[in-house]
Amino acid sequence: MKSLSIALALAAPVHAGLRFGCSSLTIQRLDPVVEPGNAPSSHVHHIVGGNAFNATMTGDVGARATCTTCEMSEDFSNYWTAVLYFKHPTNGSYHRVPVVNNAALAPNTKGGITVYYTPHDFTTDDLKNQPIKAFPPGFRMTVGSPATNSLDQAKGHIGLRYNCLQTLINRGPEMVDFPDRPCPAGIFAVHHFPACWDGKNLDSPGIYNTIRMDGFTNAPPCPASHPVRMPQVTYETVWDTTKFNSMWPSGTPNPFVWSFEGTSGYGTHADYMFGWKGDSLQRAMNKSECFYDGCGSITKQVMTEANKCTVPDMVGEVTDGWLDHLPGMAM
Ligand SMILES: *[C@@H]1O[C@H](CO)[C@@H](O)[C@H](O)[C@H]1NC(C)=O
Ligand SMILES: *[C@@H]1O[C@H](CO)[C@@H](O)[C@H](O)[C@H]1NC(C)=O
Ligand SMILES: *[C@@H]1O[C@H](CO)[C@@H](O)[C@H](O)[C@H]1NC(C)=O
Repeated sequence: MKSLSIALALAAPVHAGLRFGCSSLTIQRLDPVVEPGNAPSSHVHHIVGGNAFNATMTGDVGARATCTTCEMSEDFSNYWTAVLYFKHPTNGSYHRVPVVNNAALAPNTKGGITVYYTPHDFTTDDLKNQPIKAFPPGFRMTVGSPATNSLDQAKGHIGLRYNCLQTLINRGPEMVDFPDRPCPAGIFAVHHFPACWDGKNLDSPGIYNTIRMDGFTNAPPCPASHPVRMPQVTYETVWDTTKFNSMWPSGTPNPFVWSFEGTSGYGTHADYMFGWKGDSLQRAMNKSECFYDGCGSITKQVMTEANKCTVPDMVGEVTDGWLDHLPGMAM
């Protein structure tokens, strides 16, 4: 399975980069990027990565965290997205959709997110002129917005897409909205982040997207306004919708909603809090042999060790099981 999925990815023009799994760390209503200080934040998130995760996060996260659910053991970053819920078509109850790990990840990865850092093809001239620079401590960014509510706006969010999984390794075409029929192996959500930075703002206003196509694509050179070429970060999450498919009568609308009551898929979004320890990400980005599963420049851990990393439940509310309303959403 592993070699097949790498072969699939190789068909895309990606020639170097990291790809690894991070098990699920926590599911709760916190968002230190968009709503710092709010515990709870407005809607539920699925979070992976380091144990410095908190309602407020500032400064050098990589220096503060002591463990991570990621396979790369020097990566104390946090990665999160909204959570997918099933809304029962007749009785209106909600149930959280479980996350399963991507088929090709390290053994014992639990749920989680597949993370990519792609510097692309080291041989191209533009990459020689604009070498990849790792993010600085304190850097954070967000892509997409829960407020996106039209197809045209969603189309404008390049790289925020869905696949209706036919099997865990056969993804089918990318879609802007939720699939309109049951998916045999689940719903795959992908979030590509921009690759250019202004070198000043540690937050989203500092980032700029030069990518004009969905999927894995080499980021074009960065403009003078945002001259720093960063690793291009991508998340993939597999939402296991299969146990809800039988409760979806044909002809009724898609019963899945994002945790902000997002009944269309347009509001999909993702957040990133940089937290690699010291210069570890830069070391990896400097090596063209750092491909997919890492290289001698960075340290890995077995996932049974990664899975021991936890954070406290800081909100203390039920997010799973049958619920009469989504956490944080009025009835
Ligand atoms: C989260 O922040 C609170 C308040 O600042 C602090 O008491 C707590 O130790 C922090 N938790 C972690 C895991 O950093
Ligand atoms: C809705 O249906 C589900 C699945 O049958 C059930 O478990 C849940 O309790 C129901 N909710 C209500 C409010 O009846
Ligand atoms: C990465 O490469 C750049 C450019 O060659 C160099 O200046 C920098 O010191 C390298 N950093 C690390 C951590 O290897």
